[in-house]
Amino acid sequence: HEYDLLVVGSANADLVVHVDQRPAAGETVLGSDLAIHPGGKGANQAAAAARLGARTTLLARVGNDAYGRMLSQAQRAAGADTTGLLEGEDAPTGVALITVDAAGDNSIVVSSGANARLTPEDVTEARRLFEAATVVSLQLEIPRETVEAAAHTAAASGARVVLNPSPPAPLPGSVLAVCDPLVVNEHEARRLLEDPADGRVDGRVDDRATGRPEEWAEALLERGPRSVVVTLGAEGALVATPGSAAVRVPSPSVTAVDTTGAGDAFTGALGWRLGRGDGLVDAVRYAVRVGSFAVTRAGAQESYPGAEEFEKFSGNCEKGAT
Ligand code: RIB
Ligand code: NA
Repeated sequence: HEYDLLVVGSANADLVVHVDQRPAAGETVLGSDLAIHPGGKGANQAAAAARLGARTTLLARVGNDAYGRMLSQAQRAAGADTTGLLEGEDAPTGVALITVDAAGDNSIVVSSGANARLTPEDVTEARRLFEAATVVSLQLEIPRETVEAAAHTAAASGARVVLNPSPPAPLPGSVLAVCDPLVVNEHEARRLLEDPADGRVDGRVDDRATGRPEEWAEALLERGPRSVVVTLGAEGALVATPGSAAVRVPSPSVTAVDTTGAGDAFTGALGWRLGRGDGLVDAVRYAVRVGSFAVTRAGAQESYPGAEEFEKFSGNCEKGAT
């Protein structure tokens, strides 16, 4: 295969302000100077993998504007192929309005712009990229029907599908069935399990939504994905496959500066390692460290490690120094 990883998803300009505490409804707070970073869950995953050395390509849409050029420049700088980064005239580049609080946690509002114009036809036209990729990675900041088309096209081309349902939304059984793995954080796991419309035949909320991560994974596996990975922030991640006990993968302890896009770094790195032929637990072990590295620096893509600095960080993790 020409590419280890094809990411199909969003590209956003992240407009970030640091605050001590985020405002409640009706409240005004003062924050830091505005920072503008390349982001978007799809572009982030592609950048993370490419920076680590993966042969990566991205299918996404931006507008014909300065943010679109910033995003395409960031992909090239990361080393990703941009033939599938489409530019349209009818909508501006997506924007994410982000506040980061003193603990490094964020809240995000996304204005989709051009991301909402990535269509199933774009998927059909990019068929060559699907055929050239070992792994196809998906998230939900693009239209649902486009995600479905991408999942089915990937499966038909024999590619392995990694899907992060973020922001969380119900997924049809035919999409869940090809996920290997479905990657969720705590919030996404609960949301999927609490949504009775999501892959449930009996229309009930799953009580296991309030249980332990092992129970979420078990409940999510029943909906059909071939494997499930639950990311647990500072606690690392959990790997679950049908018929075997779930495996916990711990995370090195780091000081969080900005968690924005750390999940995307995790998932991009995971897709790459799976594309290289790693087993799921080994790939998750690697990806957990990449995610940990990403929280130690500001921004999303700009916080992701290159291969060399990652090796160093990883070596320190092994010595127990971080
Ligand atoms: O996951 C982080 C990303 O979510 C940000 O980069 C922002 O663009 C939103 O898409
Ligand atoms: Na970061």
